[in-house]
Amino acid sequence: MPQPPRNYFNERYPYVFGRYALKVEETVQESKRGCPMSGPVILKDGVFWVGAIDWNVREFHGYSTSRGTTYNAYLVKSDKVALVDTVKAEFFPEMMARIESIVDPATIDYLIVNHVEMDHSGALPFFMERAPQAQIVATDNGIKGLARHYRKDLPTIKVKTGDTLSLGAKTLQFLEAYMLHWPDSMLTYLPEDHVLLPNDGFGQHYASYQRFDDEVAHLEMVMEEATKYFANILMPLAPLIPPLLKKVEKMGLKIEMIAPSHGIIWRSHLDEILQAYTDWSKGVAEDRALIIYDSMWGSTESMARAISHGMTKAGLENKLIHVRKNHYSDIIKEVLTAKALVIGSPTINEGIFPSVAQILAYLKGLRPMKKKGAVFGSYGWGGEAIKAMEEAMKGMGIELVETGLGVMYVPGEEDLANCVQLGERIAGSL
Ligand code: FEO
Repeated sequence: MPQPPRNYFNERYPYVFGRYALKVEETVQESKRGCPMSGPVILKDGVFWVGAIDWNVREFHGYSTSRGTTYNAYLVKSDKVALVDTVKAEFFPEMMARIESIVDPATIDYLIVNHVEMDHSGALPFFMERAPQAQIVATDNGIKGLARHYRKDLPTIKVKTGDTLSLGAKTLQFLEAYMLHWPDSMLTYLPEDHVLLPNDGFGQHYASYQRFDDEVAHLEMVMEEATKYFANILMPLAPLIPPLLKKVEKMGLKIEMIAPSHGIIWRSHLDEILQAYTDWSKGVAEDRALIIYDSMWGSTESMARAISHGMTKAGLENKLIHVRKNHYSDIIKEVLTAKALVIGSPTINEGIFPSVAQILAYLKGLRPMKKKGAVFGSYGWGGEAIKAMEEAMKGMGIELVETGLGVMYVPGEEDLANCVQLGERIAGSL
């Protein structure tokens, strides 16, 4: 088995590795001196959470993370020892301090890479320095991805769905999860402990000193973050989820705990999160409309308010969302669970206002399912935004239930009455 040259990563990332290596010693020493960093958390006998808590991250590749996040790595200890996933690079010291309180990293036999994205593999180069004999276990796509991110001669073992790896009294079983979240993704299952480690699946960007769903005081916040996570990360891949859940069922995997790579571990509310994933992946939504808009001089906003009034009169739950006053990742969380999207934009330079065009572009990539919609907006002379928004919505499969409503300059009494009626008719169409 080829071994990485001892100083390869140091040579490739001299500044980064030097900084982290120093920090890891400090963190491990502090932890040994009883520094108040929480230690590993036991999931089951011999199964530990050894990840890291990122309390203050507020932006995650464009996604707003107002409640922080965690990078969950898990250590499985039997006759042999495996680490399942690592953490974001700068959290390597925190992970290592937790690992070193359980085992000497040099004795770790396997590093399971469920997913190559760098929030889970970023610490891999540094970990391999500490565990030079560890073999990396990943899917074919995972091995290719690691070669592109790090180096080509990593000591790897390729696995596919159904393959198992014995650690002695414990076994690791693998299940490929193509495109959930990347082509390399896989789930690891512990059959003796009935624990599923699905990496990004079932995750939430939620930092907490607690690890389990039955420990948090506000589970609704965890569910809200799980919703936002699904909406922004998994929505375009939703059609792949029911077949994967079916495969898990067919394989007869008994699941008592779902330990994702971000946020809280599910052990008492499995039914809720599994039902939510089933619903979200099928496009099940609530009788609720979102009026998503921007406005230059208040005309489009007046129209939005009148449409909202019409919906309210008709008894339809609705929400006004000004696109420049809400982060787009929060808007998408609302989109996931609403049946109707009503988009408003003034016309500018013969097209859609840039902030509305941006949310439409983001929405197009997320491929929302089973939505109904309509568009509206004010204009000065051309009014091209209406047609452009309709084309954009049709292009992403949204059923337009009304012809777009445009108003020249400032809406008068009659225009606003038309907007109210539009809101009533949209409510009637759901
Ligand atoms: Fe948490 Fe797709 O990475």
